[in-house]
Amino acid sequence: HHHHQLLPYDSEEVAKKLKMGLYFGTWWGLNVVFNIYNKKVAVAHTIGHVAATVSMSKVAISFTHIIKSAEPAFSVLVSRLFLRQPFPLLVYLSLLPIIGGCALAAATELNFNIIGFMGAMISNMAFVFRNIFSKKGMKGMSVSGMNYYACLSILSLLILTPFAIAFEGPKLWAAGWQKALSEIGLNFIWWVAAQSVFYHLYNQVSYMSLNEISPLTFSIGNTMKRISVIVSSIIIFHTPLEPINALGAAIAILGTFLYSQAKQQ
Ligand code: 3PG
Repeated sequence: HHHHQLLPYDSEEVAKKLKMGLYFGTWWGLNVVFNIYNKKVAVAHTIGHVAATVSMSKVAISFTHIIKSAEPAFSVLVSRLFLRQPFPLLVYLSLLPIIGGCALAAATELNFNIIGFMGAMISNMAFVFRNIFSKKGMKGMSVSGMNYYACLSILSLLILTPFAIAFEGPKLWAAGWQKALSEIGLNFIWWVAAQSVFYHLYNQVSYMSLNEISPLTFSIGNTMKRISVIVSSIIIFHTPLEPINALGAAIAILGTFLYSQAKQQ
Protein backbone atom coordinates (compact mmCIF):
# COMPACT_ATOMS: atom_id res chain seq x y z
CA HIS A 1 0.00 0.00 0.00
CA HIS A 2 2.82 2.33 1.00
CA HIS A 3 4.71 1.58 -2.24
CA HIS A 4 1.56 2.21 -4.25
CA GLN A 5 1.16 5.71 -2.81
CA LEU A 6 4.69 6.72 -3.80
CA LEU A 7 4.25 5.84 -7.47
CA PRO A 8 2.24 8.86 -8.64
CA TYR A 9 4.76 11.13 -6.89
CA ASP A 10 7.66 9.38 -8.63
CA SER A 11 6.14 9.54 -12.08
CA GLU A 12 5.47 13.25 -11.54
CA GLU A 13 9.15 13.72 -10.70
CA VAL A 14 10.17 11.74 -13.77
CA ALA A 15 7.88 13.75 -15.99
CA LYS A 16 9.30 16.97 -14.63
CA LYS A 17 12.86 15.77 -15.18
CA LEU A 18 12.01 14.74 -18.73
CA LYS A 19 10.42 18.09 -19.37
CA MET A 20 13.44 19.96 -18.02
CA GLY A 21 15.74 17.72 -20.05
CA LEU A 22 13.75 18.60 -23.14
CA TYR A 23 13.88 22.31 -22.32
CA PHE A 24 17.63 22.24 -21.75
CA GLY A 25 18.27 20.14 -24.85
CA THR A 26 16.23 22.49 -27.03
CA TRP A 27 17.74 25.56 -25.40
CA TRP A 28 21.30 24.36 -25.94
CA GLY A 29 20.60 22.95 -29.39
CA LEU A 30 19.03 26.17 -30.65
CA ASN A 31 21.85 28.14 -29.10
CA VAL A 32 24.49 26.04 -30.88
CA VAL A 33 22.70 26.59 -34.21
CA PHE A 34 22.39 30.30 -33.46
CA ASN A 35 26.07 30.60 -32.61
CA ILE A 36 27.33 28.70 -35.62
CA TYR A 37 25.00 30.43 -38.03
CA ASN A 38 25.80 33.84 -36.71
CA LYS A 39 29.54 33.47 -36.27
CA LYS A 40 30.32 35.14 -39.58
CA VAL A 41 27.82 37.93 -38.83
CA ALA A 42 29.50 38.65 -35.48
CA VAL A 43 32.91 38.62 -37.04
CA ALA A 44 31.78 41.01 -39.78
CA HIS A 45 30.26 43.36 -37.20
CA THR A 46 33.47 43.34 -35.15
CA ILE A 47 35.71 44.02 -38.17
CA GLY A 48 33.41 46.79 -39.43
CA HIS A 49 33.34 48.52 -36.07
CA VAL A 50 37.05 48.19 -35.27
CA ALA A 51 38.04 49.37 -38.77
CA ALA A 52 35.77 52.45 -38.52
CA THR A 53 37.09 53.25 -35.06
CA VAL A 54 40.72 52.97 -36.23
CA SER A 55 39.84 55.20 -39.19
CA MET A 56 38.30 57.87 -36.94
CA SER A 57 41.40 57.83 -34.72
CA LYS A 58 43.60 58.67 -37.72
CA VAL A 59 41.59 61.29 -39.61
CA ALA A 60 38.90 63.91 -39.01
CA ILE A 61 35.51 62.27 -38.41
CA SER A 62 34.19 64.11 -41.49
CA PHE A 63 36.73 62.22 -43.62
CA THR A 64 35.55 58.85 -42.27
CA HIS A 65 31.96 59.93 -43.06
CA ILE A 66 32.94 60.81 -46.64
CA ILE A 67 34.41 57.36 -47.28
CA LYS A 68 31.61 55.61 -45.41
CA SER A 69 29.01 57.39 -47.50
CA ALA A 70 30.02 54.92 -50.24
CA GLU A 71 28.46 52.01 -48.30
CA PRO A 72 25.51 51.64 -50.78
CA ALA A 73 28.00 51.12 -53.63
CA PHE A 74 29.57 48.26 -51.67
CA SER A 75 26.09 46.87 -51.07
CA VAL A 76 25.18 46.69 -54.78
CA LEU A 77 28.66 45.38 -55.62
CA VAL A 78 28.52 42.55 -53.08
CA SER A 79 24.90 41.70 -53.96
CA ARG A 80 25.78 41.68 -57.66
CA LEU A 81 29.02 39.68 -57.43
CA PHE A 82 28.27 37.25 -54.60
CA LEU A 83 24.49 36.89 -54.75
CA ARG A 84 24.12 37.50 -58.50
CA GLN A 85 21.35 39.96 -57.73
CA PRO A 86 20.90 42.54 -60.51
CA PHE A 87 19.43 45.99 -59.92
CA PRO A 88 17.58 48.25 -62.37
CA LEU A 89 19.79 50.86 -64.06
CA LEU A 90 17.93 53.66 -62.27
CA VAL A 91 18.98 52.20 -58.89
CA TYR A 92 22.66 52.28 -59.89
CA LEU A 93 22.25 55.83 -61.21
CA SER A 94 20.51 57.05 -58.05
CA LEU A 95 23.54 55.95 -56.01
CA LEU A 96 25.74 58.53 -57.75
CA PRO A 97 23.99 61.62 -56.32
CA ILE A 98 23.49 59.90 -52.94
CA ILE A 99 27.16 59.02 -52.45
CA GLY A 100 28.60 62.04 -54.26
CA GLY A 101 26.24 64.42 -52.46
CA CYS A 102 26.98 62.98 -49.01
CA ALA A 103 30.72 63.09 -49.69
CA LEU A 104 30.45 66.76 -50.71
CA ALA A 105 28.33 67.57 -47.67
CA ALA A 106 30.98 66.09 -45.37
CA ALA A 107 33.93 67.66 -47.20
CA THR A 108 35.27 70.06 -44.58
CA GLU A 109 38.56 68.89 -43.15
CA LEU A 110 40.48 66.79 -45.63
CA ASN A 111 43.52 65.39 -43.89
CA PHE A 112 44.19 62.29 -45.94
CA ASN A 113 45.81 59.35 -44.22
CA ILE A 114 46.07 55.87 -45.70
CA ILE A 115 45.09 54.04 -42.48
CA GLY A 116 42.11 56.35 -42.06
CA PHE A 117 41.09 55.70 -45.64
CA MET A 118 41.56 51.93 -45.58
CA GLY A 119 39.81 51.61 -42.21
CA ALA A 120 36.68 53.29 -43.56
CA MET A 121 36.81 51.19 -46.76
CA ILE A 122 37.17 47.95 -44.77
CA SER A 123 34.31 49.07 -42.54
CA ASN A 124 32.12 49.59 -45.62
CA MET A 125 32.86 46.11 -46.91
CA ALA A 126 32.46 44.38 -43.52
CA PHE A 127 29.18 46.14 -42.68
CA VAL A 128 27.68 45.23 -46.06
CA PHE A 129 28.45 41.55 -45.44
CA ARG A 130 27.14 41.94 -41.90
CA ASN A 131 23.87 43.41 -43.18
CA ILE A 132 23.34 40.70 -45.79
CA PHE A 133 24.16 37.85 -43.37
CA SER A 134 22.03 39.46 -40.66
CA LYS A 135 19.06 39.70 -42.98
CA LYS A 136 19.32 35.95 -43.65
CA GLY A 137 19.90 35.21 -39.98
CA MET A 138 16.88 37.14 -38.80
CA LYS A 139 14.67 35.40 -41.34
CA GLY A 140 15.79 31.86 -40.49
CA MET A 141 15.82 32.20 -36.72
CA SER A 142 12.80 34.50 -36.37
CA VAL A 143 14.85 36.57 -33.95
CA SER A 144 13.70 40.18 -34.01
CA GLY A 145 16.08 42.97 -34.99
CA MET A 146 16.42 44.23 -31.43
CA ASN A 147 17.41 40.87 -29.95
CA TYR A 148 19.50 40.00 -32.98
CA TYR A 149 21.61 43.10 -32.51
CA ALA A 150 21.96 42.38 -28.79
CA CYS A 151 23.27 38.88 -29.59
CA LEU A 152 25.67 40.38 -32.17
CA SER A 153 27.05 42.73 -29.53
CA ILE A 154 27.57 39.96 -27.02
CA LEU A 155 29.33 37.72 -29.57
CA SER A 156 31.39 40.69 -30.73
CA LEU A 157 32.47 41.38 -27.14
CA LEU A 158 33.59 37.76 -26.78
CA ILE A 159 35.58 37.99 -30.02
CA LEU A 160 37.20 41.31 -29.13
CA THR A 161 38.12 40.69 -25.49
CA PRO A 162 41.15 38.42 -26.10
CA PHE A 163 42.48 40.87 -28.73
CA ALA A 164 41.99 43.83 -26.41
CA ILE A 165 43.95 42.03 -23.69
CA ALA A 166 46.70 40.89 -26.11
CA PHE A 167 47.17 44.25 -27.88
CA GLU A 168 46.63 46.63 -24.97
CA GLY A 169 45.97 45.03 -21.61
CA PRO A 170 45.26 46.52 -18.15
CA LYS A 171 48.50 48.56 -18.04
CA LEU A 172 47.70 50.55 -21.19
CA TRP A 173 44.04 50.85 -20.21
CA ALA A 174 45.00 52.34 -16.85
CA ALA A 175 47.44 54.76 -18.53
CA GLY A 176 44.79 55.78 -21.07
CA TRP A 177 42.18 56.44 -18.39
CA GLN A 178 44.67 58.38 -16.30
CA LYS A 179 45.60 60.60 -19.25
CA ALA A 180 41.96 61.18 -20.21
CA LEU A 181 40.89 61.91 -16.62
CA SER A 182 43.74 64.38 -16.08
CA GLU A 183 43.14 66.16 -19.40
CA ILE A 184 39.34 66.08 -19.54
CA GLY A 185 38.31 65.43 -15.95
CA LEU A 186 35.49 63.33 -14.55
CA ASN A 187 33.37 64.28 -17.55
CA PHE A 188 35.30 61.61 -19.42
CA ILE A 189 33.51 58.85 -17.48
CA TRP A 190 30.16 60.30 -18.48
CA TRP A 191 31.28 60.56 -22.12
CA VAL A 192 32.35 56.93 -22.25
CA ALA A 193 29.13 55.73 -20.60
CA ALA A 194 26.85 57.92 -22.73
CA GLN A 195 28.66 57.04 -25.95
CA SER A 196 28.37 53.33 -25.23
CA VAL A 197 24.67 53.53 -24.49
CA PHE A 198 23.91 55.71 -27.52
CA TYR A 199 26.05 53.54 -29.78
CA HIS A 200 24.09 50.49 -28.74
CA LEU A 201 20.68 52.19 -28.97
CA TYR A 202 21.14 53.66 -32.45
CA ASN A 203 22.41 50.36 -33.80
CA GLN A 204 19.57 48.51 -32.11
CA VAL A 205 17.00 50.72 -33.80
CA SER A 206 18.89 50.41 -37.10
CA TYR A 207 18.51 46.64 -36.80
CA MET A 208 14.80 47.01 -36.12
CA SER A 209 14.76 48.79 -39.51
CA LEU A 210 16.97 46.19 -41.20
CA ASN A 211 14.36 43.63 -40.17
CA GLU A 212 11.89 45.34 -42.51
CA ILE A 213 14.01 46.66 -45.40
CA SER A 214 16.60 45.42 -47.92
CA PRO A 215 20.34 45.64 -47.17
CA LEU A 216 20.67 48.27 -49.92
CA THR A 217 17.91 50.49 -48.52
CA PHE A 218 19.55 50.06 -45.11
CA SER A 219 22.92 51.26 -46.47
CA ILE A 220 21.29 54.24 -48.16
CA GLY A 221 19.61 55.06 -44.87
CA ASN A 222 23.02 54.84 -43.20
CA THR A 223 24.48 57.26 -45.75
CA MET A 224 21.62 59.73 -45.30
CA LYS A 225 22.14 59.42 -41.54
CA ARG A 226 25.49 61.11 -42.15
CA ILE A 227 23.70 64.13 -43.63
CA SER A 228 21.71 64.43 -40.41
CA VAL A 229 24.99 64.16 -38.44
CA ILE A 230 26.46 67.02 -40.49
CA VAL A 231 23.37 69.20 -40.11
CA SER A 232 23.26 68.54 -36.33
CA SER A 233 26.92 69.38 -35.91
CA ILE A 234 26.35 72.65 -37.80
CA ILE A 235 23.52 73.52 -35.42
CA ILE A 236 25.17 72.32 -32.19
CA PHE A 237 28.85 73.17 -32.77
CA HIS A 238 28.28 76.06 -35.22
CA THR A 239 30.56 74.28 -37.68
CA PRO A 240 31.08 76.66 -40.59
CA LEU A 241 29.04 75.53 -43.59
CA GLU A 242 30.46 76.10 -47.06
CA PRO A 243 27.99 76.44 -49.94
CA ILE A 244 29.46 73.28 -51.44
CA ASN A 245 28.42 71.30 -48.31
CA ALA A 246 24.84 72.54 -48.50
CA LEU A 247 24.74 71.76 -52.22
CA GLY A 248 26.04 68.25 -51.50
CA ALA A 249 23.33 67.63 -48.91
CA ALA A 250 20.66 68.79 -51.36
CA ILE A 251 22.05 66.51 -54.10
CA ALA A 252 22.08 63.52 -51.71
CA ILE A 253 18.47 64.14 -50.66
CA LEU A 254 17.46 64.36 -54.31
CA GLY A 255 19.32 61.09 -54.89
CA THR A 256 17.29 59.25 -52.23
CA PHE A 257 14.12 60.55 -53.85
CA LEU A 258 15.32 59.09 -57.17
CA TYR A 259 16.18 55.81 -55.44
CA SER A 260 12.72 55.51 -53.91
CA GLN A 261 11.20 56.16 -57.34
CA ALA A 262 13.49 53.54 -58.95
CA LYS A 263 12.52 51.05 -56.23
CA GLN A 264 8.82 51.58 -56.75
CA GLN A 265 9.23 50.82 -60.44
C1 3PG B 1 30.85 51.93 -36.09
O1 3PG B 1 31.79 51.32 -35.71
O2 3PG B 1 29.70 51.46 -36.10
C2 3PG B 1 31.16 53.29 -36.62
O3 3PG B 1 31.81 53.96 -35.64
C3 3PG B 1 30.00 54.04 -37.11
O4 3PG B 1 29.53 53.38 -38.19
P1 3PG B 1 28.15 53.79 -38.81
O5 3PG B 1 28.17 55.27 -38.99
O6 3PG B 1 28.11 53.05 -40.11
O7 3PG B 1 27.09 53.35 -37.86
